[in-house]
Amino acid sequence: MQHAMHDQTDIGTDLGVAAAWLRRGEPVAIPTETVYGLAANALDPAAVARIFEVKNRPTFDPLIVHVGALEAVERYALSFPPAARALAARFWPGPLTLLLPKRPEIPDLVTAGLPRVALRWPAHPVAQALLQSLAFPLAAPSANPFGYVSPTTAQHVHDQLQGRIPYILDGGPCSIGVESTIVGFEGEEAVVYRLGGLPLEALEAVAGPLRVQLNQNSNPAAPGMLSSHYATRKPLFLIEPGAPLPNTHPLPVGLLALRPRADLPSGVLTIPLSDNGDLSTAAQRLFWAMRQFDQTEVTAIYAERCPEVGLGRAINDRLRRAAVV
Ligand code: TXA
Ligand code: MG
Repeated sequence: MQHAMHDQTDIGTDLGVAAAWLRRGEPVAIPTETVYGLAANALDPAAVARIFEVKNRPTFDPLIVHVGALEAVERYALSFPPAARALAARFWPGPLTLLLPKRPEIPDLVTAGLPRVALRWPAHPVAQALLQSLAFPLAAPSANPFGYVSPTTAQHVHDQLQGRIPYILDGGPCSIGVESTIVGFEGEEAVVYRLGGLPLEALEAVAGPLRVQLNQNSNPAAPGMLSSHYATRKPLFLIEPGAPLPNTHPLPVGLLALRPRADLPSGVLTIPLSDNGDLSTAAQRLFWAMRQFDQTEVTAIYAERCPEVGLGRAINDRLRRAAVV
């Protein structure tokens, strides 16, 4: 297909403008509470194809379908098992994506030919208002070029997709900052495929102990979750919290610290992800901080591993995928 270029990519808050482009089959960036999405009409294969084109995303990587009401699930999923219903009742709208058997109305391009469709009802009020004004659901991956860090502000989207999409709907900085938690069902058993903005502990409080099956590489259940995702341009290395920095790279180097540190020489640019170790604040700032370092002269980024609790799991997962192994 021919690339539709746009001389200008406007950032604005006009739902009507966003809706008009979407009705014409053009992708538009939209805010959600997790990260910004690159949205298009999920029922129109040509519009969905534009998403893959704009992102340079391989078509074997399926897209999440965003809906604006619980009833929509019945329209796009063949079944809605009780375990899924219980999670939806508790956590939707919110940072949870459910994998359910798909109905034929969802084009194969959306699910990369897989039998399940990923569904999410986002909590961001702007996303909700937009979805309510449209007669179709929105397929939307994160609004970054394939393989890069997800955007958490309208400006992040503009920095990378300027000229490739007509409009960025600005809903302010994302409040959660990491992508949704993805849950599927194998028989009666709920399985977590991606650690994300809904902490595992919250899910387990409703569903009981869950199996976590993260996709390190290509995986048939969620083939898009390649280990190379979330890469910064600067090489990134994981270190233990508070540990001295290795001197493998010349100064200046960057440090992503969970809380402020005063023990480091000049030439170490530190971005504290929080004032006090709070993991929700750290998640909210993570992708912003990774982007900040990519714009500086640092030769490498060292990142402190978070405790494996709450949103710390999702942060560590993103850092591991971004890290040079
Ligand atoms: O928070 C989020 O989930 C954000 C916002 C925009 O909603 N979206 C997002 O989309 O992170 P994306 O495309 O960057 O990541 C979604 C991942 C895909 O890479 C894929 O691994 C998995 O969800 N996925 C989507 N549809 C699937 C399907 N039908 N079967 C298995 N995995 C699927
Ligand atoms: Mg993504």
